Amino acid sequence: MSHQKNMQVMDFLLSRRSDSARTLVKPAPDGKSLEKILTAAARTPDHGKLIPWRFLVLKNQVLLKIATSIHEIGRAKQIDQEKLRKNVDIFSNAPLIVAVVSSPRSNEKIPLIEQQLSAGAVCLALLNASHADGWGANWLTGWMSHDKSFLETVFDLSEQEFVAGFIHIGTRTTQSVERPRPDLKKITSWL
Ligand SMILES: Cc1cc2nc3c(=O)[nH]c(=O)nc-3n(C[C@H](O)[C@H](O)[C@H](O)COP(=O)(O)O)c2cc1C
Repeated sequence: MSHQKNMQVMDFLLSRRSDSARTLVKPAPDGKSLEKILTAAARTPDHGKLIPWRFLVLKNQVLLKIATSIHEIGRAKQIDQEKLRKNVDIFSNAPLIVAVVSSPRSNEKIPLIEQQLSAGAVCLALLNASHADGWGANWLTGWMSHDKSFLETVFDLSEQEFVAGFIHIGTRTTQSVERPRPDLKKITSWL
């Protein structure tokens, strides 16, 4: 096979950046458009083909219900009030969120960490697929993504599962600003 460049994809990867979730509005991708984005995200390296992740598509009334649960459960857990207000706001106003659930399988050969890393890779793939399809997107977590009792009560997750990312997807209202990127020399050793 000859070496074939795909400059469009390379340019995309060299300029990709997230949007701030609070700047995203409706419309959000729906139906076929979202299915295509999720299909691209599910095309992610997965050692042993275990598919150790799954998606929860959250929209409309469900987001408002989750925001109420964040408020109630967060208060009971004495989460910092300012942090809680931000969490509630962001869920109440989100056009669409896809929760990427890390859902590891019991397997003798594939370590848990590799299955969890694959879930993280799905989050980036989902972010990039959303951007490639013209949407704004942002990967967020917060205390809700790891809190076992919150996850069981609100999403019915099992003991081994957690949310690797709440991926906010919607229409951009602003151009996101670039942030400093790592100095390659500092993070790379050429051995
Ligand atoms: C696992 C993970 C969790 C994150 N959680 C949050 C969060 O809860 N709140 C936040 O403000 N940013 C969070 N971020 C950072 C945002 O996604 C931020 O927009 C991103 O680092 C911007 O990078 P980019 O422009 O290269 O896409 C998280 C990032 C990762 C990888």
